[in-house]
Amino acid sequence: MSLVSPVHDVHVYQARRTRVLQWMHDQGGGVTVIPTGEPSLRNATNPHPFRFDSQFYYLTGFTEPTAWLVMVARADGTSESILFCQPKDPDTEIWDGVRWGPEAALVAFGFDQAHPIDTLSDWVPKALVGAPAVFAPLHRAAVADLPMQLQRWITTARQQSRGMREVPNRWIDLTPLLSRQRLIKDSHEQAIMRQAAHIAAQGHCEAMRQVKPGQAERSLEAELLRVFLQGGAQDTAYETIVATGANACVLHHRAGHSVIKDGDLILIDAGCELHGYASDITRTFPANGRFSGPQAALYDIVLAAQAAAVSLTRPGASFNAGHEAAVNVLCQGLIDEGILKGSLAEVIETRSYHPFYMHRTGHWLGLDVHDVGPYRLTELDGEEPDWRPLEPGMVLTVEPGLYIRPSDQVPEKFWNIGIRIEDDALVTDQGCELMTRGAPVERAAIEDLMSAGMR
Ligand code: GLY
Ligand code: MN
Ligand code: MN
Repeated sequence: MSLVSPVHDVHVYQARRTRVLQWMHDQGGGVTVIPTGEPSLRNATNPHPFRFDSQFYYLTGFTEPTAWLVMVARADGTSESILFCQPKDPDTEIWDGVRWGPEAALVAFGFDQAHPIDTLSDWVPKALVGAPAVFAPLHRAAVADLPMQLQRWITTARQQSRGMREVPNRWIDLTPLLSRQRLIKDSHEQAIMRQAAHIAAQGHCEAMRQVKPGQAERSLEAELLRVFLQGGAQDTAYETIVATGANACVLHHRAGHSVIKDGDLILIDAGCELHGYASDITRTFPANGRFSGPQAALYDIVLAAQAAAVSLTRPGASFNAGHEAAVNVLCQGLIDEGILKGSLAEVIETRSYHPFYMHRTGHWLGLDVHDVGPYRLTELDGEEPDWRPLEPGMVLTVEPGLYIRPSDQVPEKFWNIGIRIEDDALVTDQGCELMTRGAPVERAAIEDLMSAGMR
């Protein structure tokens, strides 16, 4: 049995570690420690499924729990990457499945050394003796007491050196560096994300084909999950949202037992996780296969807002430009439909649109569905603080919406309509690639797909 993921490429992970090690040398050298975390119990003896830590996985490709990555950048210019992981244990493996063990992991994942996890606390203090700095993902550590653990190791190192050699007097947070590195997806990541997007789009198409008034939201969730897993995904990327009728105005409504009614719009926000990478798609469609007049009017406003944001999803445009463009289109649409009063400038200035559009138009996407990476430039980038310009290789969602709750201020025909349209965009040299367009967004295309399914 092979434990190697079909997308595993040892050189990809080695190259990422080399970049971090180079940066450590540039900072004067030291020791990096990154844990992946422990399994946790859901109830009684029953564990939650383990999900590796994204930073750890980004640098190793290693998916088992109870493992640490240690990287050493020495003053003489040499570097080492060391894995600490669970040892082979035939009795436990009968119950929990095959483990790599240090010997096999050393080769398969391209480390310089690999050791059993129970030697970590002997090994790290020795490495810290003479090291000027300790590096760790302090803001996003998979182990809550990482700072206390580091303190204990430094104390041990000080005792072992008997004051004859230095121990780290600088703690350097790796989070900003790793976040910036992960913001630009390399070709290995792009290929996986394209496939994750494709699988998720197929799931949305299947939900459109299968929906029937009288079903519970949960049964559409089941269709999505089936397509995700049959397509090769390991999991959903986040809790699936299937929201029928008024539920669509609750932004994070979980798929539940609400029954889908003829005449409802259904909002599905669902994505799969493939080899650690998330897709994140929202589609909104009519339960009976035909948009009503008021539903169509609002849908086309959201679609036009998305098109405006997509046209600004290109290199050099600021991260915020797409949001501003979408807000403009949404506000003009709300004015045209008599939902908001005043001029476009007034509506934007006073934010009177906020009850109907209260979230941003996108976020970074990657190993985390709300992926790491600063949205603004900082002094670290050598720039004035401002929104970050987009660059080729960034992946972000484009997801405007409108959510109309009952109100005396709003024509009744629009009450309880919630619409969001969300696609995943890879910024290219020229503009962007919408990786999720395997699921239709045009009203006519949705109605065609649904009528094929209802035949
Ligand atoms: N599915 C979570 C989001 O769209 O941000
Ligand atoms: Mn999203
Ligand atoms: Mn989403």
